[in-house]
Amino acid sequence: MKGLILSGGKGTRLYPLTYTSAKQLIPVANKPVLFRVIESIREAGIDEIGIVVGGTAAEVKEAVGRGGRWDAKITYIQQDEPLGLAHCVKISQEFLGDDRFVMFLGDNVIQGGISKLIGEFATSGWNSQIVLTRIDQPEQYGVVVLDDTGRVARLVEKPKNPPSDLALVGIYMFDPSVHKAVAAIRPSWRGELEITDALQWLVDNGYDVRPHIHRGWWIDTGQPGDMLEANDLVLEELDYKVEGYVDRDSQIGRRVTIERGAEIINSVVRGPAIIGENTRIINSYVGPYTSIYHNVVVENAEIEHSVILEFSKIRDIEARIQDSLIGRDVVITRSPIKPKALKLTLGDHSQLGIL
Ligand code: TTP
Repeated sequence: MKGLILSGGKGTRLYPLTYTSAKQLIPVANKPVLFRVIESIREAGIDEIGIVVGGTAAEVKEAVGRGGRWDAKITYIQQDEPLGLAHCVKISQEFLGDDRFVMFLGDNVIQGGISKLIGEFATSGWNSQIVLTRIDQPEQYGVVVLDDTGRVARLVEKPKNPPSDLALVGIYMFDPSVHKAVAAIRPSWRGELEITDALQWLVDNGYDVRPHIHRGWWIDTGQPGDMLEANDLVLEELDYKVEGYVDRDSQIGRRVTIERGAEIINSVVRGPAIIGENTRIINSYVGPYTSIYHNVVVENAEIEHSVILEFSKIRDIEARIQDSLIGRDVVITRSPIKPKALKLTLGDHSQLGIL
């Protein structure tokens, strides 16, 4: 089996965080979502992994490298325009050859491993296996109808009136027959080659497409709210360890990770929380469900249920920062300069909630 990870696309729903950088590299509990995806494919014993990259190719390549860190061989496949998930399969044909493979969206986080599932598919005679989950409002997803025998009968992309509550999670397994499917289908009304159309083609032409209903959580980190939720869920399951420095005046909860080089000075950190490498927390409170990434400074401030990315500085803020997603190199500070007013430099698409 091979692995194919989709890490192109535009990430418009996560602007401004993804305005200049790849959404798959945004960390959840201080680890980029894309790294979590690579790890789960590796856990299944797959070491040949292709990554489809788009406009953010340079950044993805720089972060992931050639795969040595995961003992894997990584091949990059350039997609000039985000022309759909089935288009990704089409342009990856040379890399995939005649192998069975698992395709994983690079911005999805799923609970538990996928090793068992992949093992099951690898040794089966099935042409495809898709992972589904029950969702209350599946209108935004690919929705699947099963037949009486429990096999996949019909797929609809983002239906106005969903025919079932079974939505496609971003994990698909295929044998080489998918290449015939992606060659046969035409672009949809939105100009994309849809993976749902490729799957429907397989079903219509008598190929065996099996569902697997996933019962744990699954998050598509495409939107800011989802990002915080994914952070909550992953922090819940993290193994906690303290590798940084905590001074005697600080209090650290049980479920707190302090990464290498981090310093906690005269502060309280309540878990679950993670403080990144070389980050300094001084005279501050960090509350539950907070991930603070590398090289951040939090001084004389309170922050809870938030994600802060690298190199940001938060200083001398009286109001507690909560439910917030703060990007890279952001500075939030008290200004003594009169008149007493909010002085903001916010990028395009920023959102600010003021008391
Ligand atoms: P989406 O979230 O469907 O698309 P997007 O990344 O363009 O996001 P937005 O809607 O916010 O603009 O993509 C799911 C995953 O698949 C994501 O990791 C990007 C990747 N992808 C590609 O690599 N190529 C493509 O042609 C498309 C559509 C997505």
